[in-house]
Amino acid sequence: MARKILITGGAGFIGSHVVRLFVKKYSNDHIYNLDTLTYAGNLENLKDIENENNYTFIKEDINHTDNISELFNKYKFDTVIHLAAESHVDRSIADPISFVRTNVMGTMNLLNAALETWREDFSDKMFYHISTDEVYGTLGETGLFTETTSYDPNSPYSASKASSDHFVRAYGETYGLPFIISNCSNNYGPNQFPEKLIPLFINNILNKKSLPVYGDGNYTRDWLYVIDHALAIDLILNDGKVKETYNIGGFNEWKNIDLIKLLIKQIDEKLNHTPGESEKLITYVKDRPGHDLRYAIDASKINSELGWKPTVTFEEGLSKTIDWYLNNKEWMNRVTSGAYQEYYEEQYK
Ligand code: NAD
Ligand code: TYD
Repeated sequence: MARKILITGGAGFIGSHVVRLFVKKYSNDHIYNLDTLTYAGNLENLKDIENENNYTFIKEDINHTDNISELFNKYKFDTVIHLAAESHVDRSIADPISFVRTNVMGTMNLLNAALETWREDFSDKMFYHISTDEVYGTLGETGLFTETTSYDPNSPYSASKASSDHFVRAYGETYGLPFIISNCSNNYGPNQFPEKLIPLFINNILNKKSLPVYGDGNYTRDWLYVIDHALAIDLILNDGKVKETYNIGGFNEWKNIDLIKLLIKQIDEKLNHTPGESEKLITYVKDRPGHDLRYAIDASKINSELGWKPTVTFEEGLSKTIDWYLNNKEWMNRVTSGAYQEYYEEQYK
């Protein structure tokens, strides 16, 4: 049976890779990309597939309760892959309420609309909620997050994502709404907005601007190439078990400062700079409040149950990512004009 798949946040970083994968792979299904196009949403990310017959873009805000219900009535979506969110920790520290609005209330609007449309017959329906490993809080020097690790969020961003995860699960238990949740580690790759560590630092190295390292730089993240996340989402949607959670990670932990030195090494090589030349741009700045020390995922469940593992090494993925930014300077120029300048000055003043 052909599916009517609603992907929210499909003009953003991860969403655009998921939309492209589904539009290309499932020509018999119809893919609806619903996105309100905040500063992080960019239809340029989807230029190559925008005219495909099985693709429709809907400009809408998940906070508009009535409009979201009308869209469910009109299109009769049977599958939701929910990525739309405010996604940047630093912005959540400056403006927590907008994270509650979109990540919690926006998710509630989608849950209510799905429930109203599907409650007579839940067969062949799925609400797939995309979440983050940050809901588990922070690890010390050892250990890994598993699917049964208790939620312990520390930032307004992770608290809002944790809250939305709880509501999705509660709608499953209370009303029988079929759902799956996956919690993924830090993504990197093409089309990521340059407020997150890797694209911000690529852009700053290319422009010879300082590289603001928070605190002592000894914070650890587990990095995954965005296309490997999109492939995991496809696999989980098709083969995952209803009401289950899957952790997705890169088996790839890096201390920020080591990652930054690798990034500098690769860029300096590609640009024929003297080795290590850009290291002089490293500037230690005031730490992020509530900064989580370490994230690392135990991805053995998705590996053993669904056969998923990352397809690219970090060195390959990072090299492809740098090449994409070097070949798409216009994309970077457009997204860093206007409001971005104000954000940057406020964040790094
Ligand atoms: P992003 O900020 O790049 O994109 C978010 C998209 O959602 C944008 O296109 C934006 O326009 C849209 N959006 C925001 N508010 C909206 C609203 N009210 N109505 C409709 N659309 C709205 O984010 P991303 O990095 O692609 O993350 C996507 C999802 O994956 C998020 O739910 C995030 O929590 C989760 N996630 C991200 C990472 C990561 O490393 N980036 C890791 C794990 C999980
Ligand atoms: P980020 O990309 O914001 O992802 P998250 O906070 O969701 O993990 O940050 C990744 C790491 O890099 C995190 O430890 C904070 C650090 N960081 C800096 O040191 N400087 C920066 O300018 C940014 C944006 C992040």
